[in-house]
Amino acid sequence: MPGQASLLLLLFAVAASGQILPTLYEYYTEGGISSGLQTPPGQFKLNGKDITLYSGSIHYFRVLPEYWRDRLRRMRAAGLNAIETYVPWNLHEPEIGKFDFGDGGNDFSALVNITQFLRIAQEEDLFVILRPGPYICSEWDFGGLPSWLLRYPGIQVRTSDPIFTRHVKQFFDQLLAQVVDFQFTRGGPIIAVQIENEYGSFGAANVQQSYLQFIRDAYIENGISEMLFTCDSAVSSGTTGALPGYLMMANFNTNPAAQFDKLLELQPDKPLMSMEYWAGWFDHWWSKHDTGLTPEQFSTNLGIIFSYNASVNLYMFHGGSTHGFLNGANALGSYPFYAADTSSYDYDAPLSEAGDYTLKYNLTRDMVAQNNKVQTLLPAPPANSMKTAYPTLPITEYLSIEQIIQQIPSELITQIETVTNMEALEINGGSGQSYGLIVYRKQIDLPPSAQLQIMGRIRDVAMVVVDGQQKTQRPEGGISNESFGYWTVADSTFTIEGTDAGINTLDIIVDNWARVNFGSPKDFEQKKGLFEGTVLVEGQPLSNLTAIPLEFKSKWIKSLTGWQPIQGQLQGPVLVRAQFQIQGTPTDTFLDMSGWSKGSIFVNGFNLGRYFHLGPQVTSYIPAPLLKEGDNEIVVFEHYIPATQLVFTNVPILGGKRKGGA
Ligand SMILES: *[C@@H]1O[C@H](CO)[C@@H](O)[C@H](O)[C@H]1NC(C)=O
Ligand SMILES: *[C@@H]1O[C@H](CO)[C@@H](O)[C@H](O)[C@H]1NC(C)=O
Ligand SMILES: *[C@@H]1O[C@H](CO)[C@@H](O)[C@H](O)[C@H]1NC(C)=O
Ligand SMILES: *[C@@H]1O[C@H](CO)[C@@H](O)[C@H](O)[C@H]1NC(C)=O
Ligand SMILES: *[C@@H]1O[C@H](CO)[C@@H](O)[C@H](O)[C@H]1NC(C)=O
Repeated sequence: MPGQASLLLLLFAVAASGQILPTLYEYYTEGGISSGLQTPPGQFKLNGKDITLYSGSIHYFRVLPEYWRDRLRRMRAAGLNAIETYVPWNLHEPEIGKFDFGDGGNDFSALVNITQFLRIAQEEDLFVILRPGPYICSEWDFGGLPSWLLRYPGIQVRTSDPIFTRHVKQFFDQLLAQVVDFQFTRGGPIIAVQIENEYGSFGAANVQQSYLQFIRDAYIENGISEMLFTCDSAVSSGTTGALPGYLMMANFNTNPAAQFDKLLELQPDKPLMSMEYWAGWFDHWWSKHDTGLTPEQFSTNLGIIFSYNASVNLYMFHGGSTHGFLNGANALGSYPFYAADTSSYDYDAPLSEAGDYTLKYNLTRDMVAQNNKVQTLLPAPPANSMKTAYPTLPITEYLSIEQIIQQIPSELITQIETVTNMEALEINGGSGQSYGLIVYRKQIDLPPSAQLQIMGRIRDVAMVVVDGQQKTQRPEGGISNESFGYWTVADSTFTIEGTDAGINTLDIIVDNWARVNFGSPKDFEQKKGLFEGTVLVEGQPLSNLTAIPLEFKSKWIKSLTGWQPIQGQLQGPVLVRAQFQIQGTPTDTFLDMSGWSKGSIFVNGFNLGRYFHLGPQVTSYIPAPLLKEGDNEIVVFEHYIPATQLVFTNVPILGGKRKGGA
């Protein structure tokens, strides 16, 4: 368009005098788009112009869609020019062949409308770096892989195993069709796409070049033409996990110099980028709160990154929350082997879990402003949301575990010959049970003192309930607790006391606390429930059991009836309910779950996340869009001992007040 150049000159002239600057898109697409992101020596170029990427991670699936624009605007206001997100396969294909990009009718459908997110990112003047995995780590159940993959005996995920790649291809064909038109060279925001994820960490003996090539080919066949890359710790993985010809990026939080020097050695003719500069860190239940880098360490290392003229992606810029049962876990190399992640994904990031500015935000904003040579128009930073400590709510009604089980739809209840992992159940269109708890039920005449033996390990925590009476204690002590009921103990025994005469209902209720999201292939064997060995009562193997999945899906929570008024002290496992009114527009708030033991919270049917009395997370963030003016309902599934009330607060408590001893 004639005149556009002079218009831009005018804009720059105005800029110099401190008034109007071009937007990011105006600056980089002026005169039309002829090329995407490229990697000449020393510096990235976008559409032929120098660009340093100042990027930050926000996972659309960890933030309510009503807040996407707000969080992205805060990011842009800090001077960042790109947002990076992973793609969670397990939310986009919750059952085999049933895809969800916003209209799947699933609990988290609203959080996975990826095209809406991409559109808003562009409207907020940000480029997008997309990391579709299919493995995404990210402290997310099974690193984003769907649990139904575990139905295939011996499946080798993250390899060229034909069953695995067939399913990846089916998913990518659907996903990439959604995003292909959002590529920069087609006028959209996506400037780069990652191949797999930290594949070098899978271990040199397990890495298959043919698998990386397969992902690359699946991208190309689906029309992906923007720059492709891989990322790993350059120092510890070298070129393991890389695909020759594609840019390698480095992940780290300390020692940027060693990482970049290694990258320069491996690919001297390429620009530098940290794909994951870990701005903070995540927490495990039962551990101390871990903030990763202090603000001082954070800015020192960011300064070193900038001294290399490198591009950077802050992982996370805003962590948000891991709702539902979707938190991941780590396989610990040594005892006690396993640690599940908290539902808060605050990450001590520049924006807090609730989106508030932190000192790391200011440091990022100020340092980017000093370094960025390309001045573009930035929005005003939105004000922090209001937080209300709503009045304390008494819990008024409950459903006993038997009343809960009676309301599980019969098509979900199956007879099993012997104990079986939840993924193997013949339910949910042949996809099994993915998340929640599973009840193994047996009608049996128990002696007054009965010996229960579970051979193998429990995945992950078991409760024993007889005739509706909880027989096990809530977890106490440290994560290495070796009492019955925890994964720490192989071949465990428990004495069931005080049962009534006659036929008893024995329920072994096993909580899937999360599948591991990081590690080598042996860590990816992660079936849940009981399956490793026989279960015996008084030395006799139990057979012909009833398997009852407790999935706590939103529609089911909302459909529950028969709530009873509470009299006296309740015992878990139990569902309790509180109803309340909000006058006027709701605001953000937090529940302080001190006084509760272990369980899950449902806000107007939405599975908010988990809580655990040994912390470190104490509060659960409730974003305002989950509440409504007028009637609201909070339901809590408490495994052991419910409190009598729900306490709201206007400040988060994520650690420090309590500590679990590990
Ligand atoms: C995603 O959101 C947009 C905008 O709200 C809507 O038009 C579109 O139908 C949604 N996509 C799906 C698959 O529901
Ligand atoms: C970074 O770029 C500046 C100017 O563009 C140059 O003077 C400097 O040598 C570069 N530093 C490195 C480490 O490449
Ligand atoms: C961050 O910067 C804003 C605006 O300059 C200021 O009001 C705020 O106090 C700063 N916050 C911190 C934690 O330094
Ligand atoms: C382990 O937890 C049990 C409850 O399951 C508790 O009774 C016991 O005291 C705890 N053990 C330790 C060593 O803390
Ligand atoms: C298996 O258990 C079910 C339910 O308890 C019962 O109806 C059925 O008769 C049992 N079958 C055998 C073979 O014991």
